[in-house]
Parts: sequence; C-alpha cells; structure tokens
Amino acid sequence: MLIFYAIFLSLILSLGSAYSTLSDDTLKNLPSPGDDFHIKQGSILAPILIPRVSGTEGNAAVLRHFVDFFKTHLPKWNLEFHNSTSTTPTSNGKQIPFVNLIATRDPPGAQVGEVGRLALVAHYDSKLTPTGFIGATDSAAPCAMLLHLARNIDAALTKKWGAMAAEGIDELDEQKGVQILLLDGEEAFQSWTDTDSLYGSRALASDWERSFHPAMSTYRTPLDSISLFVLLDLLGASSPNVPSYFKTTHWAYKNMAAIEHRLRELGIFKSSPNHSSKMEKRKNKKPRAEPHFLVDAEKGDKMFMGGFVQDDHVPFMARGVEILHLIPTPFPRVWHEMDDDGDHLDMDTVEDWTRLVTAFAGEWMELEGFFDFKKEKRKESYEKTEL
Ligand SMILES: *[C@@H]1O[C@H](CO)[C@@H](O)[C@H](O)[C@H]1NC(C)=O
Ligand SMILES: *[C@@H]1O[C@H](CO)[C@@H](O)[C@H](O)[C@H]1NC(C)=O
Ligand SMILES: [Zn+2]
Repeated sequence: MLIFYAIFLSLILSLGSAYSTLSDDTLKNLPSPGDDFHIKQGSILAPILIPRVSGTEGNAAVLRHFVDFFKTHLPKWNLEFHNSTSTTPTSNGKQIPFVNLIATRDPPGAQVGEVGRLALVAHYDSKLTPTGFIGATDSAAPCAMLLHLARNIDAALTKKWGAMAAEGIDELDEQKGVQILLLDGEEAFQSWTDTDSLYGSRALASDWERSFHPAMSTYRTPLDSISLFVLLDLLGASSPNVPSYFKTTHWAYKNMAAIEHRLRELGIFKSSPNHSSKMEKRKNKKPRAEPHFLVDAEKGDKMFMGGFVQDDHVPFMARGVEILHLIPTPFPRVWHEMDDDGDHLDMDTVEDWTRLVTAFAGEWMELEGFFDFKKEKRKESYEKTEL
C-alpha cells in the first residue's frame, strides 16, 4: 500500500507544475532594488545604460558586468556562454560575434535532463541606430530586473532545497530550476527581417534543439527543459498595457495578474495613483481608478486571435516552447528613439515590475516560508555601516 501510494504521489507531482502563492507578508517584504537601480551610480542598472551594440566593446563590457554580478553575489548559479557568429547587412561580409549568457540554478544533485526550468529572458544588446542609442526600456531595465530577481530568490532556493534534502523527499518531488537568459543580437542592424534580427536567440534555440540529454531523460533537450519562457521587453516606461498573447500560457498570465492585483491592494505598487507617495503630493486625496499593467486577466479562451509581437521568443515558440511575453502594446513612446535613456525611465514602474516578476518566480518555485527578510535586512545595514 505504501509503495502504491508513493507511485501515485509521484504521478501526481509529475503532471503539470505545482505553483503556490506567496503570503501578504512576503509580498510586502520583498526587498526593492533601491540604490542598485540608480541610473548614474546604481551597481546593477548604471553599467547597462551604455551603447552595447553586438560585437562592440560596450557590449562586451555589459556582458562582463553580468558575469561579475553572478560571480560576486550568486556563486551557486552555473554560468555558460553560448557563442555564435553571423554576418549582418552592415558588417560588409565580416562575421560579428553574438554571446548569450545563460545562468542556471538547479536543485543540488539534480541529473541533467531531469529538471524543468522557469526561464526568465531579456536581451542585452542595443540598437545600432540612432548613434548613441541607449535602450533603457529596450532592454537595459529588464536585464537589471532579472539580476535583482536572481539575487532575491537565491537564498530562499538554498533554504528550500536544504529543507527538502533534510526531509528526504527529493526523490518524489518534481525537480524545478530557474534559468536567466541574457540574449545578444536581438536588434536588427538595418531593418527588421527574419535574418536581420534575433541573432542570439535563433542560434541558441537551434543549438539547444539538437543537444540531447542522456537517453530516457524526462526532458530530451535543454529546450524541452524550459517549462515556461518568460520574456521581458520594453519595460520601464509609465502606464504599460501588457496583453495576454497566448492562450496556452494564459493561466500563468492570470497568476501574475493576480499578484499585481494583490500588490496594488496592499498599497505597495509604487506607480499606482493610490500609492501613499502619490496621494501625499495630490491636493485631492480621493482614490483614483486603479490601472493594471496586465490588462487581460479576464480574457476568455475564445478571444485569442493569434496576434503577437516579433521578439526573442519566436525561435523558441516555433519549437514548441511555452511563452509568456511581457511586452506592452502599444510600445513605449520612446521606442527606438534617442530618449529611451535612463532619464526617461519611470523608476516607480521599474520597481513595480521587478517586485511583480520576482514574486511570480517565488510562487513558481514555491518559496513561501523560505525567505529570511530579517537576515537580509541585517546584512544590508551591516553593509551600509561598512561603507
Ligand atoms: C564565448 O565568448 C565569451 C565572451 O566573449 C568568451 O569569454 C568565451 O571564451 C567564448 N567561448 C568560446 C567557447 O569560444
Ligand atoms: C484606488 O482607487 C480606486 C477608485 O476609487 C479603487 O477602486 C481602488 O480599489 C483603489 N486602489 C487602492 C489600492 O486603494
Ligand atoms: Zn529594440
């Protein structure tokens, strides 16, 4: 009977991904990026706010910044480069290098091919024209959000996996990991076509499709290992309107929309017109209508018309990967303009997205009860006094 029960349980666990909500307390206590997102001195965001066209020194410098960040703060994450080269319409026959960075954190001792991963994705290259283009929303801010997210769930993952090992339940539980993909070469050099765009993601999806895990693995390739591909792009301008693009991942969209709703209700969504910082500045203290970033929570199954935005997910989607695309429609006003720079970011919105996506990852990874905010705070104040 016991054996039957165990098999039955493992069957349940292998069907679909478990997901569990975070408490109000956890949502409230998730650390905000604060000074790390300062656009001039911030240790996370400022180094990304430079021109970083693929194949240039700026691009290499930003990549080094990511690697340094993981090596310094997140030594448990496995770092891999995925390198490819291609000519472009402006390279005069020269091969341009494209380097994707893949940072992965799997449960300790997990077999390759047995871990399903939440992939969180943004591109780090910037557009060649106009000269000097920064691309703060496109996608410096999304990259910064993912670094902050990784740092904020790291200790909770360690604690959760430690507790699971101690209870000896790792054999039965589904093996879930997290992967941050920082992709190169998203932008077109001349104008967007199937071959002049998505250089990094096309090469990565095609290579991953053909790298096979050992026979009998649960997931055949690193592509199959992606349970959900969450792509962040053009985020950081105020009042984003982000539709739900795909019927098959609408359930995940709804989970994220539910978190947004709770963050607003809890009064911790900084960009909300009802947030205390905004109310204080207003003569008329009446609450204003509460807008939502994720506008399609109520969208019905029959309302999906198949429209989507061309972006880094396309080569993955074409190979059957499930996609959640966080990109506003319409695009921000500053899109591909010189003023898509640090000064034109709406920092409240940047912070809100960061908290929202971090909370979503926390729920996906079932981290409720494993965050230790007191310890984090002690560490912060310790670091501050050290400075
Ligand atoms: C890939 O590119 C990175 C960054 O330029 C470099 O450090 C690394 O050695 C390259 N890897 C391979 C296998 O060429
Ligand atoms: C903000 O005000 C609107 C309009 O009165 C209200 O419907 C909404 O619930 C408020 N939101 C918060 C977070 O107080
Ligand atoms: Zn762009």
